[in-house]
Amino acid sequence: MFTRTMVKTKGEGMIANGLPLGLSVDLQKETYDWKKDVIVNKPKLLEEIVEALENKEIKLLRRKICSIFSIIDYPKSDKIGLINIDRNGDTVVLKKGPLLEELRQVQEAHTIERAKYYLERLKRGVTEVKTSKINDINLNRWKEYTDIITDSLWILDKRDNSGAHIGSYWGNFIPQIPHQLMMRYTKKGDWVVDAFVGSGTTLIECKRLGRNGIGIELNPEVAKKAKELLRKEKSTNNVVTEIITGDSRYINLQDTLSKHRMEKAQLMIMHPPYHNIIKFSRSPNDLSNAKSVEDFTKMFADVVDNITPYLEKGRYLGIVIGDKYSQGQWIPLGFYLMNEVLKRNFSLKSIIIKNFEETRGKRNQKDLWKYRALVGGFYIFKHEYILLFKKTMEK
Ligand SMILES: C[S@@+](CC[C@H](N)C(=O)[O-])C[C@H]1O[C@@H](n2cnc3c(N)ncnc32)[C@H](O)[C@@H]1O
Repeated sequence: MFTRTMVKTKGEGMIANGLPLGLSVDLQKETYDWKKDVIVNKPKLLEEIVEALENKEIKLLRRKICSIFSIIDYPKSDKIGLINIDRNGDTVVLKKGPLLEELRQVQEAHTIERAKYYLERLKRGVTEVKTSKINDINLNRWKEYTDIITDSLWILDKRDNSGAHIGSYWGNFIPQIPHQLMMRYTKKGDWVVDAFVGSGTTLIECKRLGRNGIGIELNPEVAKKAKELLRKEKSTNNVVTEIITGDSRYINLQDTLSKHRMEKAQLMIMHPPYHNIIKFSRSPNDLSNAKSVEDFTKMFADVVDNITPYLEKGRYLGIVIGDKYSQGQWIPLGFYLMNEVLKRNFSLKSIIIKNFEETRGKRNQKDLWKYRALVGGFYIFKHEYILLFKKTMEK
């Protein structure tokens, strides 16, 4: 990620970038990955870009870009102080891969006008930050965000089990889901509400990403465990994370928000039970104990009516849900819930299909399931949905 930074040297004089001998970097709490990032002397880079832009012949412009490229690619060849950091130098951290790609694009342009267009874009990326109202993504350096998914098909093969993300709660989602949603739809310091917080995955991710989080969980034992897990997640981000034990259909979210001097949240995430596929408790208030699919849909709609009035207009609601089979029929729970939300003040932004790995039980019986599927004429579930909605009206 692109961040302006201070670089302090412990030793004397200039030091070589990428070989951080005695180098300590304060990246405004962003992590600096010396294998992927490159710390560039900003005035020097701009000087080089301006000089390249002054060329009237594409051949000369390319030559200049070629010399910048070689230094970034092979720091030891730096003779001009482009990535040798002066003690008081103004610096910029750039992702090495995308930077080299941009330089290559300039070099490969067919006309000088096109090459200069790409160079101006690179210059803007170094000098200006452009973000939207709903996230901190610097659009002038959008190529650096290789980890942010923008496709509607998410194939996530490995669960993030780091830190407090233990992954042992039956029916939890993988941390990459709230992570992706927060990166796209929140800024640092925003408020996120998860109405079915379970083991606290969303709130752990809130702590990591510097977002405030409120989670609601019906089952007191599960809520207690989630609180313990949250305490284990150490964070340097100064944020609030709170778990309320109660029924999301009736909980007073306004009270909790106003306690923190907030009226509205900026992102809402809902990962309800997939009806009765997993029974989370014996409570009749638990959506997994709804007597029928109609009751389940109604209970979910009640949660939406109780919680989403506290979502800011123009902000996002993400619902994570899978379908189920009952008596040989595919029951499209995802579409039922989607229709409920669309009856309210929301517009549909995306239906994301996420791969779904077999549960441990099913994995052991893979062949048996294949046989059953062939006999019964059905398909084995391998996906779930992430439904994304934007709130269109204040209520
Ligand atoms: C699919 S799990 C959520 C898992 C969570 N995303 C995680 O990563 O741990 C659904 C959760 O909703 C809770 N739940 C069910 N009915 C509820 C209700 N009426 N209000 C609040 N929580 C409820 C269940 O106890 C369960 O923990």
